[in-house]
Amino acid sequence: MPYQVSLIPGDGIGPEVAQATVRAVEATGVRIEWECIELNSKALEAAGGEIPQHVLDSLDRTHVGLKGPVTTPIAGGHQSVNVQLRKRLDLFANFRPVRSFPGIRTRYSDVHIDIVMFRENTEDLYAGLEHEVVKDVVTSLKVITRVASLRIARYAFEYARREKRRKIHAIHKANIMKLSDGLFLRCCREVARDYPEIEYKEMIVDNAAMQLVMRPEIFDALLMPNLYGDIVSDLVAGLVGGLGIVPGANFGERHAVFEAVHGSAPDIAGKGVANPTALMQSAALMLSHIGEGEAAHRLQSSIEWVYAEGRHLTPDVGGSATTAEFTDAVIRKVTKS
Ligand code: NAI
Repeated sequence: MPYQVSLIPGDGIGPEVAQATVRAVEATGVRIEWECIELNSKALEAAGGEIPQHVLDSLDRTHVGLKGPVTTPIAGGHQSVNVQLRKRLDLFANFRPVRSFPGIRTRYSDVHIDIVMFRENTEDLYAGLEHEVVKDVVTSLKVITRVASLRIARYAFEYARREKRRKIHAIHKANIMKLSDGLFLRCCREVARDYPEIEYKEMIVDNAAMQLVMRPEIFDALLMPNLYGDIVSDLVAGLVGGLGIVPGANFGERHAVFEAVHGSAPDIAGKGVANPTALMQSAALMLSHIGEGEAAHRLQSSIEWVYAEGRHLTPDVGGSATTAEFTDAVIRKVTKS
């Protein structure tokens, strides 16, 4: 029986990187029946800004999604699809592994970076509870709950135990937000006590931003509430070459959605030069999640091989290959390995 996966190509470069990724996954030999869903800005507009029910129905059937970027209107318009999806499916854990990549020159080329990030995905300032008190005075509610904080902390520590990670830093601003970030920290401490083999540390978010830039090698795993997680995870992606190459995943109790963390890149959409690495690596995480560990490893190491060889890289990472040329190179390696 083939696996079933809901495929959401999305907007802008989304369909280009999704097509490339489907080709690379199929080259591994794993049989997948893709349920292709149109969830982009046009479809959302037509549905009044809400995720259409058939999208949720598809994910309820398959339990696994692979998603490209969807354009989000700024300072108005509908709520982000990502935020909606995470809330509607209770995808509480955002997971981003970031590692130095062979063949990409960065300011940190002489440092080995290997950091996994866990971000609470359903609350904090992303609760979307904003209110205009009187004209020109707006409040935005930061929601932190014990249940959600314990859940993400437990998820991070379980992962660390399973994958033999040494150290977790909880990132916070509890010196200022004593109640909300204070609660988050207390939950992290409570969970940490059950995992004595993992070193538990805490760091204020502004210091963490500086330390990540100056000494990224001291970090192993980061555990963060939603907003800091959003910002810090992009910062860490920047250390290894940017959003075009890092994967992401969102896990709930029943569903998992794997996604490229970059946006729809309207400046290069339709030109055939988008870098599909982020979505391909997300697909490798997906293969591992569905139990196809060998295929996941083969896809991941083939992508890394193409980077190390350096002959078929896309323009954003200093090459001149098209999306299709890069993808062909990955597929040649996947099928030979
Ligand atoms: P962006 O990530 O789309 O683009 C930033 C820069 O990175 C651009 O120069 C773009 O060409 C480049 N870039 C991004 N991905 C690339 C790739 N795979 N290959 C080569 N170059 C790549 O961020 P921006 O411009 O802030 O957002 C554009 C739209 O995307 C917005 O509507 C935003 O809301 C949406 N967005 C959606 C996300 C999602 O659905 N997960 C995440 C981030 C943004």
